[in-house]
Amino acid sequence: MVVSARVEASQIGADILKKGGNAFDAMAATGLALAVAYPFAGNLGGGGFMVYRQSNGDIGSLDFREKAPLSASKNMYLDEQGNVIPDKSTLGSLAIGVPGSVAGMFEVHKKFGKLPMKDILEPVIALAKKGVVVTKNQAERFNYYQSKFRLVNKDSLLFYKVWKEQDTIKYPALAKTLERILKNGEDEFYKGETGKILVKFIQDNGGLITEEDLAKYKAKWRTPITFNYDDLKIISMPPPSSGGICLAQIMKMIEPYDLHEYGHNSLKSIQVITEAERRAYADRSYYLGDPDFVSIPGKALISDAYLKGRMADFSFDKATLSSDVTHGNVEVVESNETTHYSIIDQFGNAVSVTTTLNGAYGSKLYCSELGFFLNNEMDDFSSKPGVPNMFGLIGAEANSIQPEKRMLSSMTPTIIEKNGSLFMSVGTPGGSTIITSVLQTILNVHEYNMTMQEAVDAPRFHHQWLPDEIEMEPHSFDENLIHQLQDKGYNINEKNSPVIGKVDGIMVLSDKTLEGGADHRGDDTAVGF
Ligand code: DON
Repeated sequence: MVVSARVEASQIGADILKKGGNAFDAMAATGLALAVAYPFAGNLGGGGFMVYRQSNGDIGSLDFREKAPLSASKNMYLDEQGNVIPDKSTLGSLAIGVPGSVAGMFEVHKKFGKLPMKDILEPVIALAKKGVVVTKNQAERFNYYQSKFRLVNKDSLLFYKVWKEQDTIKYPALAKTLERILKNGEDEFYKGETGKILVKFIQDNGGLITEEDLAKYKAKWRTPITFNYDDLKIISMPPPSSGGICLAQIMKMIEPYDLHEYGHNSLKSIQVITEAERRAYADRSYYLGDPDFVSIPGKALISDAYLKGRMADFSFDKATLSSDVTHGNVEVVESNETTHYSIIDQFGNAVSVTTTLNGAYGSKLYCSELGFFLNNEMDDFSSKPGVPNMFGLIGAEANSIQPEKRMLSSMTPTIIEKNGSLFMSVGTPGGSTIITSVLQTILNVHEYNMTMQEAVDAPRFHHQWLPDEIEMEPHSFDENLIHQLQDKGYNINEKNSPVIGKVDGIMVLSDKTLEGGADHRGDDTAVGF
């Protein structure tokens, strides 16, 4: 089964499985198909993370996160007075990190793939040529973002028209790029004609990325964060994603409380989860960054003793104030728009992949000659300590900009075992709300006995330390409950976003059949056989 943001991508992935390919072949096929069918977030010009669990129980993760260009510098988004220049890290060429997605797909395929790249790329190229039927959501987004595209791009883009549901959009330039990649492999993107066209395009638009930046890019295998919660073993993404560590911190802080007894989205459950989130995000902002550049006290941050102490001042009577919470004290021993897809194959291998351009259509800069958008991932760095990025996240030195450093992420592709067997593959987009959306989906199944689809669809809330408020999906929570929370001192924000996360997951049922959960908040679709 493949669950992704678009039916075309889920179908291409599932067809690869039917052909005898494994979850890793389907990972590359679905990821590349999303670059065609879902340019909002699917990408060649972005990056991401994959967590896997093979049928024999082996686990691992791949980091194909973007990197800061060699000529990037700590204060590159500040003016002479030291203030952050609006839009500089989000819009246009200076916002672009060195893309990792093509390296990621090829690395996964090289290590674990069964089918030849030709079998994986041909259906994707065929889709780009035949075109994609535009959904209602997609037509609205193309129409909404055109003014931003016009602000950033010098050329006239293929997106410039009024879109309606059922229109077809064809991507001939992208098809040609993919054909060259099929012919010449990943070097085509990082060292070949495509790379040269890309670098010239970025530089003509005032960007920093050089041929050397592209040539030096490598995806990296990393050891996942693992921890237990009741009879579950959670396997999630390590830094440079904050996802695994924050998820571990929150789940271990809430484990002593009987959430099942309190009930789903009840006052007490929301309090416990919010307070754990508040404390974990305070640590995130101080301690986490690219492990290749900063020492991260990962073990200490997720240790039982530390986390027990962290919740010691929590009381059901009254909200803790974020102004009273700072990062905890652990010893640092020397020695940070997105889309998620989940796949479980017929052999028992599972992958969980989150990939992103960061904002909607990334930097909005679209290379017409190559047929794809470039990310604005540089905004995931902390441009200035204490100044929030586009997700309101505050960072410190650990996530400051340095050449070749990876920006801290919240992406949380996660796989779960129950009693030693594969149980779930889950993840979501949503910036800073990714971690808490993954958390709630796991809890919905484990604590509140929901099906995979119910778990994905249930209303969500989120707290990230600062701003000190519980973000709630509008029109989803009882007025009474909101007043009770306010009485205890919680600030409630139902206006920030119409949805929180767009979770795609797969659960292995007790008879070993698979149940897909495709979030009703988007066009997400599960395809299985
Ligand atoms: O890596 C991160 O945490 C962000 N760049 C993710 C962006 C995202 O999820 C946007 N989608 N809603």
